Amino acid sequence: MNKKRGYKLKYDFDRVINRKNTDSLKWDLQKHIFGKDDLIPMWVADMDLPVAQPIIDSLKKRAEHPFYGYTHAGSRVQDSVVERMTKKFQWEIDPEWVVFTPGVVPALHVAVRSLTHPGDEIIVQEPAYHPFFPVVKNSGCHIASNPLRLVNGRYEMDYCGLEDKFKAQSGRLPGHGLAKAIIFCNPHNPVGRLWKKSEIIKMGEIIIENGGIVISDEIHCEIVFKGRKHTPFASISEEFQDNSMVCMSPSKTFNLAGLEVSSIIIPNKKLRNEFLNTMAGIVPGPNLFGYTALEAAYRDGDEWLEQVLNYLEGNLEFLTSYFKKRIKGIDVIETEGTYLAWLDCRELGMDNQNLRSFFRNNAMVAVEDGYIFGKSGRGFVRMNFALPRSILEEGLGRIEDAVFKLQNG
Ligand SMILES: Cc1ncc(COP(=O)(O)O)c(C=O)c1O
Repeated sequence: MNKKRGYKLKYDFDRVINRKNTDSLKWDLQKHIFGKDDLIPMWVADMDLPVAQPIIDSLKKRAEHPFYGYTHAGSRVQDSVVERMTKKFQWEIDPEWVVFTPGVVPALHVAVRSLTHPGDEIIVQEPAYHPFFPVVKNSGCHIASNPLRLVNGRYEMDYCGLEDKFKAQSGRLPGHGLAKAIIFCNPHNPVGRLWKKSEIIKMGEIIIENGGIVISDEIHCEIVFKGRKHTPFASISEEFQDNSMVCMSPSKTFNLAGLEVSSIIIPNKKLRNEFLNTMAGIVPGPNLFGYTALEAAYRDGDEWLEQVLNYLEGNLEFLTSYFKKRIKGIDVIETEGTYLAWLDCRELGMDNQNLRSFFRNNAMVAVEDGYIFGKSGRGFVRMNFALPRSILEEGLGRIEDAVFKLQNG
């Protein structure tokens, strides 16, 4: 029930809304990227589900005020982030710790540059969100790859591998330094793990004991299923707080990617100042509509969020049972968080090019190739399931038919 309104708004996520010709990356660039525009788009991470009404109302109201001048994050916006962290994660933060950026990816670039010198190493745990790679490389650093391990269908971190990244090794290439930081992702895109508190502690202790910093990308933190609960890295202890930067945003949770707004929580003053100095004059703050949407989402978005999470969980159950019952040769890795399913297609026995062509040309669905997330993503694809159920069903039907034809000549 919405207090201001006095009644509950019921959202209709089954309704199919045409997004073509809205300059949507997913819909209007699909032909350019996939070479076809009749594929079912199940790729880039935004939802084909309409946003919360209070966000639309706030944006309209702000748009009606006829001044769009330079804007900063006022105290209402800052407080909405502080209150959100308390409400959702029982994490008490200081408004001073929050730095606003126009997206998490620009913040990752700034974070890495503020912490490193060219030649340093940054740990990335593949399969990993693919922009992590250019974040490291474009800063003149090297990737210290610490692939996740797939054990009995579930991904785990390789803690021994993490420790090794801080040891001088004879095999280290000239110009490579020891690891300075890790880009941690929780929930982990693309494999869908929501890391448990005990796992985060184990990983964090290794990094911090070795003098490293944890850049924690928690953009998907509110899209978690089956009553699971996200733990922000810096909420664990003062030591974790002093050695981390936590990247938060309402953009995935509330489907606001085009508004480009995120809040980077950096409790350590020295790290925060270095971050601010690195971004000064290069990375601007978010635009005024981003601030407006963030505040509305965090303050008045929960009625919608509860419904969208139910819907996404329903889609996930539908998809998981569809693959299990009707599609042989593709296994769904359990998704604990994010609306991205990680599909293990290795049994189909195809190389990168054939698997790519199979989904595009035979199944006619647009999914992300697993290998773009790193070598250990070969043989997998990532599928976005935040879309109306009927379209999801059509996409799965196309995959079922294509797999059937493949297996039955
Ligand atoms: C783990 C992760 N980080 C960052 C981003 C993108 O962040 P932004 O659009 O705020 O730059 C995404 C988008 O899918 C993501 O999955």
